Amino acid sequence: MDHFNYHDGALHAEEVPLSRIAAEVGTPVYVYSAATLTRHFGLFRQALDWTEHLVCFAVKANSNLAVLKLMGDMGAGMDVVSGGEYARARAAGVPGDRIVFSGVGKTLAEMRQAIEGGIRQFNIESEPEMRALSELAASMGAEVPVAIRVNPDVDAKTHEKIATGKSENKFGIPIARAREVYAEAARLPGLRVVGVDVHIGSQLTDLEPYRLAYGKVAELTHALRADGHSITRLDLGGGLGIPYRRDNNAPPLPIEYGQVIRDTVGDLGCEIEIEPGRNIVGNAGILLTSVIWLKEGEGRDFLIVDAAMNDLLRPSMYGAHHDIVPVTEPVPGADVRTFDVVGPVCESGDTFQKGAQLPGLAAGDLVAFRSAGAYGAVMASEYNSRPLVPEVLVRGDQFAVIRARPTFEEMLARDTIPEWL
Ligand code: LLP
Repeated sequence: MDHFNYHDGALHAEEVPLSRIAAEVGTPVYVYSAATLTRHFGLFRQALDWTEHLVCFAVKANSNLAVLKLMGDMGAGMDVVSGGEYARARAAGVPGDRIVFSGVGKTLAEMRQAIEGGIRQFNIESEPEMRALSELAASMGAEVPVAIRVNPDVDAKTHEKIATGKSENKFGIPIARAREVYAEAARLPGLRVVGVDVHIGSQLTDLEPYRLAYGKVAELTHALRADGHSITRLDLGGGLGIPYRRDNNAPPLPIEYGQVIRDTVGDLGCEIEIEPGRNIVGNAGILLTSVIWLKEGEGRDFLIVDAAMNDLLRPSMYGAHHDIVPVTEPVPGADVRTFDVVGPVCESGDTFQKGAQLPGLAAGDLVAFRSAGAYGAVMASEYNSRPLVPEVLVRGDQFAVIRARPTFEEMLARDTIPEWL
């Protein structure tokens, strides 16, 4: 459920008509609903209310400072994967002891930044990383809490580019070798082993892969405790999918996911961390765009909009589907036309949807790409020298620009022409 609905014939974000945002901010623009974000975060908390837990929002899904502050103020932790994300979480007011640091390629500079700034836990992904972190922490006189990310070799049954829990993926340490790696971790100075970490992929629409993976984590936890480690936390990653289409195939709910966690690891007495990103913010955002031209091609018509692949990369990168809806509510029974919805970028891959069924639209009309709050703005670029798409946050009847569209002057000012040229 989200808060983008038609009222009085016009699509609104909460109580704000999207046409008002388009008129004041221009298009393309991302629009987020605070009420939807709050609701989704609450559902995860509720799903884990049977135990001590921390819901760590995966910052990579949407790293706007206003979004992070909203989450942080509700008590969310943050899962970060770079020094930039760490800086954003801190700037949004999230204390270090609520930040976990994941990622296969943390640099020494990033580790130092997080140790100095405060960190809840590093999720270690390899032995070289573990040894480097130990040496750095010891040299700084610190003892940092660590979990080791294990790769359970489970098929998450999702798109190959976002599956992370198979042995062929670059993530984590093979679960079969985990005991040996934990033994080394326990011997190394500067590290304090606190838990086990796993994340098997993104946009999961089936709970069985979770059940399998978490079952393996439970077994490992017993074995590690028998080896003398104190395992007090389990970081179970993120990945719960969202409905991208308004049909009856909705993925499982957070409450059902929470039950799988309870069934598999609930009796271990561990604090549970989870790292949802998409499920919290995906359906809390839309990309609002204007029709530039209707172009009649041979055998097909094109709806050319002012958003492009650089603003929302998912369709061209993963073949992802985003529902496209007109901002003016279609009258029941109105004629629909079939369009290929495309952007202005000079690549055929700049296609959002082929064969979209939409009511009669004209140049200047507004349409919205739904489910665009996660992995939308964060993956945008300035390809074709198109200004980075701005972001707006709505709460009730108010809205604010939370990232402004850069001017051409600002874009050009980042380049330097050397004096010898
Ligand atoms: N934790 C870790 C360690 C991750 O790598 C990820 C996502 C998450 C949590 C959050 O997963 P979520 O709950 O959002 O599914 N750009 C792709 C998705 C890449 C996901 C990468 N890792 C897309 O647009 O579908």
